[in-house]
Formats: sequence, C-alpha cells, structure tokens
Amino acid sequence: MAKILPTSVLVVGAGGREHALVRALLASPAKPRIICAPGNAGIADDAKCFPVAADDITGLVALAKSEQVEFVVVGPEVPLALGLSDQLIAAGFPVYGPTADGARLEASKIFTKQILLKYKIPTAPAGIFSAVEPALEYLRRRGAPIVIKADGLAAGKGVTVAQTIAEAEAAVRDMLGGKFGASSSEILVEDCLIGEETSILVVVSGRDYVILPTSQDHKRIGDGDTGPNTGGMGTYSPAEVVTPEIYRRIENEIVKPSVEAIAAEGIEFCGTLFIGIMLTPTGPSVIEYNTRFGDPETQVVLPRLKTDLLTLLWAAAQKDLSGFKLEVSSDYALCVVMAAKGYPEAYPKGDLITLPTLPVNVAVIHAGTSRNQAGDLVTNGGRVLGVTALGSTLAQSAHDAYAVCDAIECASKYFRRDIGARQLNRP
Ligand code: AMP
Ligand code: GLY
Repeated sequence: MAKILPTSVLVVGAGGREHALVRALLASPAKPRIICAPGNAGIADDAKCFPVAADDITGLVALAKSEQVEFVVVGPEVPLALGLSDQLIAAGFPVYGPTADGARLEASKIFTKQILLKYKIPTAPAGIFSAVEPALEYLRRRGAPIVIKADGLAAGKGVTVAQTIAEAEAAVRDMLGGKFGASSSEILVEDCLIGEETSILVVVSGRDYVILPTSQDHKRIGDGDTGPNTGGMGTYSPAEVVTPEIYRRIENEIVKPSVEAIAAEGIEFCGTLFIGIMLTPTGPSVIEYNTRFGDPETQVVLPRLKTDLLTLLWAAAQKDLSGFKLEVSSDYALCVVMAAKGYPEAYPKGDLITLPTLPVNVAVIHAGTSRNQAGDLVTNGGRVLGVTALGSTLAQSAHDAYAVCDAIECASKYFRRDIGARQLNRP
C-alpha cells in the first residue's frame, strides 16, 4: 500500500534542520521536486525557496496549493503548535508533522509532565505553579539543584537549571512575573536529574514507530559544557553512551509507553517524537518531548540513514509504518555548529562568509545565512552553519569537520572545540 512516492514536497522552515531535510529528500531515488519556505541561502542553492514565513499558516497553505505539492514536511515547532498540519490536512495535503494536539507535547511542558506521570513513564518529580509563594515554598522544601521551567514555548530559553536556591527563586519570580509572557504564566519546578543526556528521535505514525540512530547534543555555548544554554552547538551519532542494554530500556520503558500513551490520549500523532533523555544512575528518564526533528541532531542522524528518508516520512504520513525496516550506516557523523560570536546573546549580522572547497565526506549545512545585495553569502542568525563530517571513526569525523571549520572565513565565527569529546575521551 502507498508505495508510490510523492513527486513534489514542500519543506517548511529556515534552519539547519530544514537544510539537512532538504538535502536528504533530494537524495531520494524518487527524485522529487523539493521547495522550501522560507529557507535560507544554503537551501536556496539546493531547492527553490519562497518567502513565506514559517508561522504564516494561511500563506503556507496557499503556497502548498499554488505549487500543487503532494506532501508537506514541517520542520519547526511553532507552525505545528499553530495548527499548520491541521490546516494542511483539512485542505487535502498529506503532512509529516503532528497536528496541534500532538504539538502540545512540546508546546506545554505541564501537559507533557501530566502524561508522563499518568502513564508512569520515568521522569523527574515536579510541582506545577501559577503563584510565586507556593512555588518558593515547594522549591525550598526540595532543595538545590532544582529546575524551573516555563510551561510554554520560549525559543529554547525557558529552562533554568538552578544550582542554588537563590537562583531558583529568581527564576520563579522572573517567569511568573511575565518574562516569557503567557508561556511562563504557569511553571514547573522539578527535581534536577544527574547524568549524561541523549536525544532519541522517533518517527511516529499512530501506534507504529521507527527509532532513528542515537545522538548527543552539546547545549552549552562554551567548551567543557560551560556558559549559557543554546539551541545546540554540535552533535554526534551514534551516542555510544547508549549501550545495547540502555537502548533496550529506553525502548521498553520510554519509547513504547510514550507512543502508547499519546495514542491512548486520543492524539493521532504523525511526525517526529524527539525524546530528550537523561541517563541517570538508576536508568533513563524523560527530560522533555519535542514534536519535531532536533537541530542539530538531524544534521548527524539523517546522513547515517541508508533508508530513503522520503520513503520513511511518506510511510508515516500514509499510516503505513508497521514493520518498516530502517537501514543505518556504521559510519560516525559529527556536526560542529558555527555560530556568530556573542550568541546566544547579541551578535552581529551581515558578516561575509567564505567557504573552502569541501572534501566528499563533509557537508556544510546552512542555518542563519542569507545573501547581501551584492549576492555574497553573509551571516543572518545566531547559529550560522553546521559542518557535518562522516567517517569510519568518530575521531576521523571530528578531525575532518574541524579542518573545514578552521578553513571557513568569517569575522564573527565562533565554534566549540570539543564536540564529541565526551565519547572520544571515554576510556
Ligand atoms: P529544554 O529547554 O527543555 O530542552 O531543556 C534544556 C536543558 O535543560 C536540557 O537539555 C537539560 O540539559 C536541562 N534540563 C531540563 N530539565 C532538567 C532536569 N530535570 N534535570 C537536569 N537538567 C534538566
Ligand atoms: N537540539 C535540541 C533541539 O532541537 O531542541
């Protein structure tokens, strides 16, 4: 059933994740026409881009109609939470990316926590608060370190891992005081989980699922995991901290029950369930769900797939994922994110970028790039590029990715020097 693949696909989004998706879809043996909205300078070199913003739901539905696409793949969380998939489905388009009820698993951390607790899926104990005093009283009782989370979407900034009670109290006051507007009118105060993190991306279609290769992100801006949190400064895959035994536990204790719980809640989920997991001394525990591909996880996960991505995503959208066999390469992928100096705070835009000639095993994926009036490639965001290398060892991939990072010319370039170090240095 449903083996005929779509011949034209709209990818929604403008970041590195979407560039990686566009590249992988273009590599399909089905040779689909790929268009993107709004895209970036790198995506525009690979696929036709249309200037429709990722949160312009009406504009995107109109674009899907006018370009007569046969399939839409939605990258970021915001359009999903705004109901883009609902609107597209109502207009007759097959979509990869959950409807708004599924996207709530990312858009509301409280909703997710309630589901995790209801279905007894391992996660940190937490309290839910909308008033300052009870929240302070609770966190003083639990003690530091403790984690304060805004309920809603906050562009990756809504979590404070407080090392002291004073820091936690300040975060509670800030958030309930309106720091993230309606997104932080309710908060979670949860126990701090200790361990190494891993990102598990799962392609879900109702009760069927396919687990993609494991990966690990580097969230902090500085080497040695120091400084403020970012959207992600680099990734590698596979994450060998997930041993076969831990992988089995993750599948049985977290992935399967999560997919079942979501279906039992009446959500017909079609899209990526990205589970952030802490590998604690007592076992894997859910930090959060996201309802989209990770960025920059996608940049290392997709290049390792031997299976055609279009076939996989289309099978999910056609509810035909049961028994799907995924083939994965034994290569190691590593992605170093080149950011603009100053990120995640203020940073310059419009700096010229000159790319070197690339070896065949290295790809430069664009995130925050555009072209100036002269047509030159320039920086246009905090995370600018992702340099992904594939190699037969992680050390080789790191070496080759860093050689390209060093050769990129850009006045404001900044990148971490230690992507993959945890795995490379593991005895
Ligand atoms: P999020 O914005 O939900 O992706 O969270 C950002 C980061 O905060 C996560 O990747 C973790 O590193 C950290 N974090 C969130 N919740 C916890 C927790 N309960 N314990 C420890 N770290 C956490
Ligand atoms: N890399 C983490 C995220 O996509 O949220």
